[in-house]
Order: sequence, then C-alpha cells, then structure tokens
Amino acid sequence: MDAFIIKGGRSLKGTVRVHGSKNASLPLMAAALLTDSPLTLHDVPDLSDIRNMTRLLGTLGCEIDLKDSDPGRPVTIHATDPSQTAAPYDIVKTMRAGICVLGPLLTKRGKARVSMPGGCAIGDRPVDLHLRGLRALGAEITLDAGDIVATAPGKDHRLIGAHVFLGGPSGSTVLGTANVLSAAVLAKGQTIIESAACEPEIEDLADLLTKMGARIQGAGSPRLIIDGVDELSGADHRVIPDRIEAGTYVAAAAITRSRITLENFPTDALGAAIDRFSAVGVQVTPAGNGEPFDRHRGSVTIRTADTLKPIQVFTQPHPGFPTDIQAQLMSLLCLADGNSTITEKIFPDRFLHVAELLRMGADLTRNGPSVVVSGVRELIGAPVMASDLRASAGLVLAGLAAKGTTTINRVYHLDRGYERMELTLQALGADIQRVKQDSV
Ligand code: EPZ
Repeated sequence: MDAFIIKGGRSLKGTVRVHGSKNASLPLMAAALLTDSPLTLHDVPDLSDIRNMTRLLGTLGCEIDLKDSDPGRPVTIHATDPSQTAAPYDIVKTMRAGICVLGPLLTKRGKARVSMPGGCAIGDRPVDLHLRGLRALGAEITLDAGDIVATAPGKDHRLIGAHVFLGGPSGSTVLGTANVLSAAVLAKGQTIIESAACEPEIEDLADLLTKMGARIQGAGSPRLIIDGVDELSGADHRVIPDRIEAGTYVAAAAITRSRITLENFPTDALGAAIDRFSAVGVQVTPAGNGEPFDRHRGSVTIRTADTLKPIQVFTQPHPGFPTDIQAQLMSLLCLADGNSTITEKIFPDRFLHVAELLRMGADLTRNGPSVVVSGVRELIGAPVMASDLRASAGLVLAGLAAKGTTTINRVYHLDRGYERMELTLQALGADIQRVKQDSV
C-alpha cells in the first residue's frame, strides 16, 4: 500500500489538463454490452476503477483494445461472446459501479446475474431504485446467494417500455438512471423515466446511446422519454471532462492561495460549485485570449482572495452542489474567516474526513448530516487516513496548506478517482511524494 508525504505551505503555479470523467466512463464502458459492434471511447482516465470495469467487461465476453500510449487513450470494447451473463462478486465488490452492467446485460442478453454491491464507507448505498426501475420494464428479479438474478420477460426475453419513477429519499439515483436508461433503449415500445438523474454523466451516456442509434429525449432533465429500438450500432465518443477532479484542483489552488490554469474545464457542469467557491472568494474565469469561451471544455484561471469568507452549503443532486466536492470544500473552509455550515443531503454519513481534519487542528462540530466549520488560522501536518476517495482528496488539500508534514495513508482510495494526483501536484510545485506504506 502506498502513502503520500506532503510538506505543506508551497504555493502552486502552472497548468493542469482535467482528465476524462471517471463517473461518466463507467456506464459508457458498460454500454458496449448493448451492441455487437465495437465501441471506441476517448479520454477514459487511467484509474483503478476503470481497470476493474475493464476486467469485468472481459469476464462478460468483451474484447478490449486499450491504446495506452496514444494521446486521449482510446479504448475499444467489442462484445464478442454474448453467452456470458454473470458479473462475479470478486470484481463487483471492488467497485460498486459494477452494478451498471445490470441494465445492459438484461436488455441485450435477456438475463443477468450481478453480485449485489454492499455498503461502503460513505453509507449503505442501496440499489432498490435500480431494481424498481428494471422491474417496471418487466424484469423478473430475485436475490440468490448475494447475487441479483434478473430475467427479461416473454419468449423473446425482451424488456417492455413503461412509465418509471426513480425518485428516492435523497432525490434520483445516478447509476440507477444509467441502468434503466441503458435497458430502455432496447426495450419494446416507449419508456418514460420520471425523476431521472440530471447529472452531466447521464447526459453523456444519453449522447453516446444516441450516437449508437437510440432514441432519447430530455437528457439532462428529470424526464427522459425513450423509444426502444431493435438494435444499436457501435460508436466513437469522447468522454466529458471530470467535473469532480476539476473542482478538486480549484480547491487545491484556493487552499494554497495560488493562481493556476485548468484546461478541459467543464464550467457548465460546475455551476453550483463555482457559485460557492466564488462566495468564499475563489474566482474561476475564462483564461482565453479573446477566443469564444468553451463552457464544456474551456481553459480557466483560478484566483483567490487573501481572506476566505465563510459560507453555507448543501450538497444536492445536480445542478446542486455535488457531494463529491464536499470534503474538498470543507478543507478549504477550515481556513476561512468565520463559521461555515456544510449539510450533506445525499450521503448523510459522508464525513470520514472530519475526524482526520481534527487531527490537523481544524475546528469542526458535527451534528447529524451537518458540520459547522469554524475557521482556524492554520492547519498543522499530521499522519491521517481516510477510507473514501473524496475524503482522501480533502486531506491532500489540507496537507498542501498545512504547516509541516502530512502523511496520507492508504492512497489507493485516491487512485480510484484521480489519475496520478501526486504527479499533477508536483508539476504545479507542490512538495508531495508517493512512498511505500512500509517505509512510513
Ligand atoms: C454516483 O453514485 C457516483 N458514482 C458517486 O460518486 C456520487 O457520489 C453519487 O452518484 C451521487 O452524486 C458513480 O457515478 C460511479 P446515487 P450512485 O444512486 O449512482 C440513494 C465518487 O466519489 N439511493 O445517485 O451510486 C443513495 O443512498 C462516487 O466518485 C437509494 O436510496 O449514487 C443516495 O442517498 C462516490 N436507492 C442517493 O440515492 C437506490 O437504489 C443518491 O445515490 C440508489 C440510491
């Protein structure tokens, strides 16, 4: 296991290109199961979650050609053996997003057996809405030895379009919407998904499916209308930039009071985050030289005021403030001039970073799904550990700003979602090293 050792207090300078989105790539890769033709994706990030999805698709009869050395890392996935319908526990347990093969397998191959994902460090993470949606399309679903076993109805084993409501206690479900959308594109007749997730990753999936021949209206809104087709073709598609990685590097610049440039920056997908950063005193502005600004993949400059202002923030489904940037924002607010409040409306227990930030001298009071962040003058380096991807990112940011040395243990969590974060930060001038944990 690796650890990061960060000597804090350095200011950052330079340019970072935001990678393709992890959370968009995972359901896009699973969409390869919907066609007999090859699907090529560009800008898929090099992350452990992506490697696990590649492994999973391999066990499901896909041939995968990954051109690692080419810019944009094209990945071609060709589903050549449709007889495989079981997603094994040993892979799905490493990556909850393995669940997003369920819809594609069921609708294309007529049946699926997918290990039921367990809870994880950020909460229980049920999949009842995924199953409710697929049942509404006629699937028969049972649970057997920890596996979800699903069969499409009738002699032709084909799902049937229906009116599906996907709202749950915390709003819609992102991967649940991906699953039901991917299933509905090959169902007989029309499907209407109400309370669909509006996240940019769902829009990207709808874009890809449309290129493959699917008929989808309303992507990016809570109402998706899908007219099923008999078959889909292959396609060539570039993954959207990772809005969470982008937001993390905004916070890295802000917490070190640095001015950096971010390329391939998805401004449109980050409206709420840019609004909250701006209230703190962090400005995200187009970096162009007079050319029209690309709000989906433009270059921006990050500048931060000398004094950080305290704010109130609620995490919410898109277009609200993303839960996946909550930990990073909390680290920043630890150094604001006053009391901030963060309320987690998606995963009420997603606060693993709180106890670790306290070890670094933060002043935090948790009350159920809310944390009051009282600004302190400085954070102090310490050995810390986090058992969640974004909590780890928040701790790295705290380490960049802290006085002294911070050791972040178990960085494999970070490697699930950030491509070589230490190299990116080193290139910006941070003092951060990856070491083998045994040597710490
Ligand atoms: C996706 O998870 C992301 N993962 C998460 O990113 C992200 O935090 C989350 O969406 C919310 O934005 C991927 O895209 C791979 P949900 P997902 O289903 O789809 C409840 C990261 O750090 N719910 O939208 O699994 C659920 O408990 C990760 O990159 C049900 O009640 O999340 C939560 O409160 C972590 N029943 C809310 O809905 C269900 O069947 C939203 O969860 C499904 C979800």
